[in-house]
Amino acid sequence: MLGEYQETLLQSVEAFQSAELVKNKYENVLQNLDSGIMLFDSEGVCTFVNVQMAKLAELPRQSLMGCTLMQLLRHPYINRSKRKRILRFFRETIHYRKKYHEFIDEYGRHWLITVTYGDQMDGDFLLSVKDVSDYKQIEKAAYQNDKLAMLGKISAAIAHEIRNPLTAIRGFIQLLRPHLVQLGKDEYARIILMEIDRANDIIHEFLNSSKPTAPQTSVLQVASLLRQTVLLIESEALMKSCEVRMHVEDENMKVSVDVKQIKQVLLNMIKNAMDAIEETADGRLGIIDIEAKICGKSAVMTIRDNGNGMDQAHLVRLFDPFFTTKERGTGLGLSVSYKIIKNHGGTISVESHKGEGTAFVISLPLLSE
Ligand SMILES: Nc1ncnc2c1ncn2[C@@H]1O[C@H](COP(=O)(O)OP(=O)(O)OP(=O)(O)O)[C@@H](O)[C@H]1O
Ligand SMILES: [Mg+2]
Repeated sequence: MLGEYQETLLQSVEAFQSAELVKNKYENVLQNLDSGIMLFDSEGVCTFVNVQMAKLAELPRQSLMGCTLMQLLRHPYINRSKRKRILRFFRETIHYRKKYHEFIDEYGRHWLITVTYGDQMDGDFLLSVKDVSDYKQIEKAAYQNDKLAMLGKISAAIAHEIRNPLTAIRGFIQLLRPHLVQLGKDEYARIILMEIDRANDIIHEFLNSSKPTAPQTSVLQVASLLRQTVLLIESEALMKSCEVRMHVEDENMKVSVDVKQIKQVLLNMIKNAMDAIEETADGRLGIIDIEAKICGKSAVMTIRDNGNGMDQAHLVRLFDPFFTTKERGTGLGLSVSYKIIKNHGGTISVESHKGEGTAFVISLPLLSE
């Protein structure tokens, strides 16, 4: 009888131990997920927080356990901006019953908060927070590519439509030319032909620049590429009282690029920098710093100006085709530059502060020796 009792007890202890083991295993998995996890019970009290969530909240894990959302708001370590964010999250998910909430933090990272509740959760609320900055970047790039593809199609159609009548006009003017010569008006014919050719050239340039072809690459030193480009722009910069400074970390840094295309990108950026400096009304001395350095497997070139800078609303549209704030701008410079750098397997990023200046960072694959 005692033996039987002992055996049942032993079985219960073993069952308990294996249940504990499984629990610990799942807890470990949850603790080490790369997403932040937080569980609230039906009373709104936090019953579980994983390591990543505590890291994201920048609060000790233990201080979050047992807190309600309201207590969290009053937590002494929570600053004003975080408090505002939690309130907004609370309103969207609890009041408006949204299951997803997205926000950008002070470091520019994108976060996605997912809320799970309902029958399968036994009255609990599960919050999971994930850094989705990389996905956002990919989404943005895909969106940008779509727009550029569309631009290519539109410009090809426009060019086609304009070129045909121009060819016809050119032909008829040539036929009329002997008659104009007889009338002593050859000069008119000459001007008409010249202007038609100019219009054709503009269309040709436009098509070439809006649809950059596959790069015709050659190997060259970043230092010489930058020097050649600065040489082209130096006199214009001087006229606009801009000082162009250049600093190359390693003279032997080499890249395999289409020289014409990369020069086109750099020239557009430097011209944009000069325009931005011109737009500052305080008569400051314009400074354009061009830097090149090695960063891992990339050659990183930075073009920094102390021009008028841009605000966030401006920045998000920067690489859109035809986005311009200039009276005589086409708004194609940066969208074409983006495409060229992408075709070279590189990236462009930008940082700007209104009234202070802008820095464009171009990263290209570095050629190993
Ligand atoms: N360094 C900069 N500082 C401030 N604003 C800039 C800078 N670079 C670009 N921008 C802004 O981005 C817009 C788009 O630039 P982008 O080079 O694509 O076209 P654009 O310069 O207006 O025209 P285009 O290059 O065809 O002459 C500009 O109109 C300007 O408002
Ligand atoms: Mg430009």
